[in-house]
Amino acid sequence: MSKKSVCIVGSGNWGSAIAKILGKNVKERSDKFEICVKMWMYEEMVDGRKLTEIVNTEHENIKYLPGVKIPENVVAIPDLIKASEDADILIFVLPHQFVAKTCQQMKGKIKSSAVAVSLIKGVSIDDSGMKMISNVIKEVLGIECCALMGANLAGEVAQEQFCETTIGCAVNGTGELLKSLFETPYFRCSVVTDQATVELCGALKNIVGIGAGIADGLGHGDNTKAAVIRLGLMEMIKFSEIFIPGSQRSTFFESCGISDLVATCHGGRNRMLGEHIVKSDKTVKQLEKELLKGQSFQGPLAAREIFKMLKDKNLIERFPLFVSVHYICLRESQPEEFINCLRNHPEHI
Ligand SMILES: NC(=O)c1ccc[n+]([C@@H]2O[C@H](COP(=O)([O-])OP(=O)(O)OC[C@H]3O[C@@H](n4cnc5c(N)ncnc54)[C@H](O)[C@@H]3O)[C@@H](O)[C@H]2O)c1
Repeated sequence: MSKKSVCIVGSGNWGSAIAKILGKNVKERSDKFEICVKMWMYEEMVDGRKLTEIVNTEHENIKYLPGVKIPENVVAIPDLIKASEDADILIFVLPHQFVAKTCQQMKGKIKSSAVAVSLIKGVSIDDSGMKMISNVIKEVLGIECCALMGANLAGEVAQEQFCETTIGCAVNGTGELLKSLFETPYFRCSVVTDQATVELCGALKNIVGIGAGIADGLGHGDNTKAAVIRLGLMEMIKFSEIFIPGSQRSTFFESCGISDLVATCHGGRNRMLGEHIVKSDKTVKQLEKELLKGQSFQGPLAAREIFKMLKDKNLIERFPLFVSVHYICLRESQPEEFINCLRNHPEHI
């Protein structure tokens, strides 16, 4: 088997943490992978210098993952085509609103035999309904695309704290190849075939994470948080059963399911957003600008997209937690209403 070359499409917080893992793994597994990992970086100026230049000289993404060294065999490239044209494995790790446009630019300019893996949490909704991000990538680029998601807060992974992740891959062989690319003693990968549920979990848990933050902001403790997690999980399962034919409950017991949900409800940006929504009267956009400095909250986008699907299918009443988070993010409902939604949840009837 010829050696596979790897390109990371995206270089934010998670992309940079993954670059650290991959840079080391390809060197250790050089019988399987080319040693140079290309990382496409959306170019921006930081302190008057190009971010690609900073990464390639200081080997640190000082904007999105400060304080973490990225191996020297990871090369930041501002030109998307130059970064991706020779790759056998394309790792997509961008905020989901940029995926379609990025893929359009790559269309027809990459290897037709390449395989992709999406690390992107979110779904895309258009007139034809819900689409997993891997399907957007697959359709535009015409290549196979798997998914990798789990309880993986980037900062903790970058510090090599132990965690697990799930690779969702319906095609035999590719899952194992990806496992050998990503796995380390502190980043354990399991492979499942129920890819759509793996991806859906990654989008839905961010909505529940905002709910957990709202409960925190209102001064509620661990019991309420546990209720948010349980009711959120029930809505996630119900949603998958309705919208993903063949979705398996066992997938919710993988890292992409319950583990990611618990982590998101205790740490991370979306929980933080929920807390700030309670403690200020600013809009989500204003909070994003103030708190994230260039990064984005994925939860409100997911809530909006899921709400649209529920509305179209007349299912709003069956998903009060998702719906309440959506209205609170829009500032059309008071945060206090969230607790009422838990109190009157259909799971209690
Ligand atoms: N951060 C985490 O802990 C984490 C963990 C697991 C999964 N994820 C998922 O990874 C994905 C990426 O998240 P992140 O945290 O790395 O992103 P981020 O918010 O840290 O970074 C934003 C990135 O978007 C880029 N960008 C800005 N404008 C752009 C444009 N117009 N076109 C293309 N790129 C543009 C920026 O350069 C930057 O690299 C998300 O789907 C997220 O859910 C994140």
